[in-house]
Amino acid sequence: MSNRNDAPEADVATVQPPEPAPQKSGKKVHVKTFGCQMNVYDSERIAEALAPMGYSETDTQEDADIVILNTCHIREKAAEKVYSELGRVRLVKESREAEGKQTMVAVAGCVAQAEGAEISRRAPIVDLVIGPQSYHRLPALLEQARTEKRKLVETAFPEEEKFDELPDRATAQALLEKAALSARQTKSAPKLPARSRAPTAFLTVQEGCDKFCTFCVVPYTRGMEYSRGVEKLAGEAASLSSRGVREVTLLGQNVNAYHGEGADGKDWSLAQLIDRIADVEGIERIRYTTSHPRDMSEDLIAAHWDQDKLMPYLHLPFQAGSDRILAAMNRKHTADEYRSIIDRLRNARPDLALSTDIIVGFPGETDAEFAETIALVEEIEFAQAYSFKYSPRPGTPAAKIEEQVPEDVKTARLHQLQDTLFAQQTKFNKSMVGRTIPVLFERLGRQEGQLVGRSPYLQPVHASGQPEIIGKIVDVAITGATQNSLAGDI
Ligand code: SAH
Ligand code: SF4
Ligand code: F3S
Repeated sequence: MSNRNDAPEADVATVQPPEPAPQKSGKKVHVKTFGCQMNVYDSERIAEALAPMGYSETDTQEDADIVILNTCHIREKAAEKVYSELGRVRLVKESREAEGKQTMVAVAGCVAQAEGAEISRRAPIVDLVIGPQSYHRLPALLEQARTEKRKLVETAFPEEEKFDELPDRATAQALLEKAALSARQTKSAPKLPARSRAPTAFLTVQEGCDKFCTFCVVPYTRGMEYSRGVEKLAGEAASLSSRGVREVTLLGQNVNAYHGEGADGKDWSLAQLIDRIADVEGIERIRYTTSHPRDMSEDLIAAHWDQDKLMPYLHLPFQAGSDRILAAMNRKHTADEYRSIIDRLRNARPDLALSTDIIVGFPGETDAEFAETIALVEEIEFAQAYSFKYSPRPGTPAAKIEEQVPEDVKTARLHQLQDTLFAQQTKFNKSMVGRTIPVLFERLGRQEGQLVGRSPYLQPVHASGQPEIIGKIVDVAITGATQNSLAGDI
């Protein structure tokens, strides 16, 4: 069974929100997203939660009656970005006030969960601080903060499941689009939500993490591991498909730990969920992220062989090449175990493109241990990768280790690692030249007549073509490649 058990304690008692009153239309919300793909997904659901009250989305803070920052706490700089953004929001709020307009400001996401009331103390313009588990309560809480003129903090992990309480996606997107169209008749035109017609979408299937890597805040900000039910997810995929989505990326902090309830009442694995989503009419491509090596089960590896809709791309973080560092990180796997998983995956799907996350300068990491990271990268060869300098996070065990690596050493290691990774990425992209690959076109490019899509290996592909091709999977002959993208002819 799925579980959602004890989570970090809330610093402010749960407030019981009243039912939100429907608002007059023409109101706008601006949601700014920081951090991971799950925040991108959550931001969509936050905007959808406000749709029944007549809100449409806007790209411009100056137009927004509500500004919501959906924040990330993963590294130190991520949190600092939020406070400097709040400084800019304050100026916008003040200049709107001078015009007699009210602006409500909410901070959502992982900084909200981690810092709670501290945020409105540091940034008094913030009306509502709301953790990731409570987005279904956001409209009512904002209304309460507005009418009662007080600051609210909601960081409890509620009993009810937020996904059950949030509005149906297709209905909410239709409302957002309608609100945007009617507001367009007025002077300041809000954006039409581009994603209401985008052919790709995220779908959160699992949230939270019980792995407790010693460097990471996620178990504290997202709570314990929890999986959504299979049929509800299939329903959401069908709803996405009905608005034109052809590719879904199944999201979770540890997506391959997925164990949601299936139609038979039993726990289903991620591989079973993928097969179920593949049966949803209109869904042509499936991806999943982020996986943990420990949960890379045999049936999931086999799915890369026998599920045609599962794309040949996998993001599988290994963090460090040294077993001593891996143990200090509490990663629960060795470098050899990682190698063996990669071997089995490549047996199942020889053209699998691999991506990873790597941290350099974990406390106590020696030059020799860092060299093991480089050696593992050289051995495996990644199509893409994200690399970070270790950033001590308050409250995590690694932050308390005394021998922190000096900043200049971390910087030098990061540069050396990135040189290796970028060379591999360029090599992988160049290996596509001369091949013909199926591309799902997603949007117009910057240049006239240009379209941008994605290869099965997640590379951006540029080609000239008619806009009608957007949303379709078309064969493209690849003629050129750079470090970051491909070019070709339809
Ligand atoms: N759940 C995913 C990723 C979570 S965060 C996983 O387990 O792989 C994304 C990445 O940020 C991590 O993989 C890690 O490489 C990096 N990261 C997390 N905490 C960090 C820290 N304190 N300092 C530097 N990088 C960190
Ligand atoms: Fe963080 Fe580790 Fe959990 Fe990933 S597995 S979210 S890095 S604690
Ligand atoms: Fe950041 Fe929270 Fe995602 S800390 S990476 S937004 S889970």
